[in-house]
Amino acid sequence: MTRMVLSNKYFGESTVRVEDLQHLVDQWFLLNGAFNIGDWIPWLSFLDLQGYVKQMKDLKRSFDKFHSIVLDHRAKKNAEKKDMVDVLLQMAQDPTLEVKLTDDCVKGLMQDLLTGGTDSLTAAVQWAFQGLVRQPRVIDKAIQELDQVVGKERWVAERDCSQLSYVEAILKETLRLHPLGTMLAPHCAIEDCNVAGYDIEKGTTVLVNVWTIGRDPKYWDRAEEFLPERFLEKDIDMDGHNFSFLPFGSGRRRCPGYSLGLKVIRATLANMLHGFNWKLPEGMNPESVSVEEHYGLTTHPKFPAPVILEPRLSSDLYSPK
Ligand code: HEM
Repeated sequence: MTRMVLSNKYFGESTVRVEDLQHLVDQWFLLNGAFNIGDWIPWLSFLDLQGYVKQMKDLKRSFDKFHSIVLDHRAKKNAEKKDMVDVLLQMAQDPTLEVKLTDDCVKGLMQDLLTGGTDSLTAAVQWAFQGLVRQPRVIDKAIQELDQVVGKERWVAERDCSQLSYVEAILKETLRLHPLGTMLAPHCAIEDCNVAGYDIEKGTTVLVNVWTIGRDPKYWDRAEEFLPERFLEKDIDMDGHNFSFLPFGSGRRRCPGYSLGLKVIRATLANMLHGFNWKLPEGMNPESVSVEEHYGLTTHPKFPAPVILEPRLSSDLYSPK
């Protein structure tokens, strides 16, 4: 993500260490998911009992410092390979834009991409691992498809992914059982309405529990089981039109990273499955892999499975070119 958004230009001794940015993103997720007493009992908020507000202010200052370093590097914007910040900065100078893109907008977009696009992808891949090592038969079936479509002489390329229907089904099944934003982001009713017989008043905060919807036996057979085949039998989309499956939300606030996110997870999963034999450590069996969740702004496995990966393709594919 940092390469897409910023290239590698800003990382180095004299500017920012990538580990520092990682720390900022981790801190951002921690604080966004924190239960802050002052939000619920406002007259106590000035005491900042847990110290979260101070940490948020510190974090804002650190992010701002990082953003300023990036913006100060405008001089590099004519580099041949453009990243997202280059494009945004170029747009910011366009006097014909109907809505002016200010420096603050560019900073906000940068932050959206770096936070929204990192933790979500890691969690999705972690959950796929968790589901797969519990079901070696699913791994075998996926490898069969990959060997058939891609062969053993090369890595999986983006163009192969459209033919990998079983890998796609694994991805969907992972997001059905483990949607990363279990309640989506809080939404607000913009008018009075009635949903399934319940009156919702304008201005009400609405939380949509996509975790429960994804496991509702009314819509899903054997709802608690990891069964990718269900997505082969029925073509169920994930773009927010099918209300029984909403891993990216729906409507205008749907995840804007939807298509990029799917591409990255698809390619990662396909290459990890195709390129390696997967094994659990001695003494650990598939049933003992936990699916317990660690709640936060995104939901990660509480106990990520230790998986041993061994190369299974031609050995020259594993050496750097
Ligand atoms: C598997 C990958 C991903 C999943 C499951 C996911 C899921 C979600 C969900 C459920 C929401 C809330 C939608 C709503 O409230 O209706 C959301 C919002 C958002 N996502 Fe993603 N996301 C993923 C990847 C990404 C990526 C790669 C990016 C950026 C490059 C991104 C950026 C964002 C942003 C900026 C928002 C806030 C949008 C708004 O509030 O208007 N996401 N995502």
